[in-house]
Amino acid sequence: VRLSRPVLQLTLALVKPDAVAHPLILQAIHQKILENDFIIVTNRDLTWSREASQTFYSQHSGRFFYQRLVEFMSSGPLRAYILAHEDAIRHWRKIMGPTQVCRARYTAPHTIRGSYGLTDTRNSTHGSDCPESASRELATFFPEFSEGAWAASGHSRGD
Ligand code: TYD
Repeated sequence: VRLSRPVLQLTLALVKPDAVAHPLILQAIHQKILENDFIIVTNRDLTWSREASQTFYSQHSGRFFYQRLVEFMSSGPLRAYILAHEDAIRHWRKIMGPTQVCRARYTAPHTIRGSYGLTDTRNSTHGSDCPESASRELATFFPEFSEGAWAASGHSRGD
């Protein structure tokens, strides 16, 4: 019996266009989220403009894969989830697996990227990499959940 309450952290999980395009893969990823005891706070399907994609990945703007990544991420629908779990950021990144498809496939075949990743760019999912990114990324996809929105609504979060 667990007596102390777990401290829940939030993370942004994205299912990228390569995976959303295949209903069975999208379903398998959804299942994986549930099997790993995440609470799905909410989720949303959307398609990015090129500009939104550029802004989201601006930290990578000097990298060789930037144009390809921006193009791909605005090429079709995305699914965004707010996931809650103890240590959610790390937990989700572990379940996603390594960024690069070869590493994922050969060193972590049971992860999401190991199972469904197609290339280093088309690697099926995204997860925030630290609390600061999670907060920024969640506000991008779910502006109604951002700190400012709570303050503006006049509601107290109880803390
Ligand atoms: P990165 O932040 O390094 O990885 P992660 O998604 O695991 O946090 O890279 C962001 C995205 O950039 C990655 O999911 C896919 C793309 N990318 C490439 O297309 N090629 C690459 O060689 C790398 C490292 C990333």
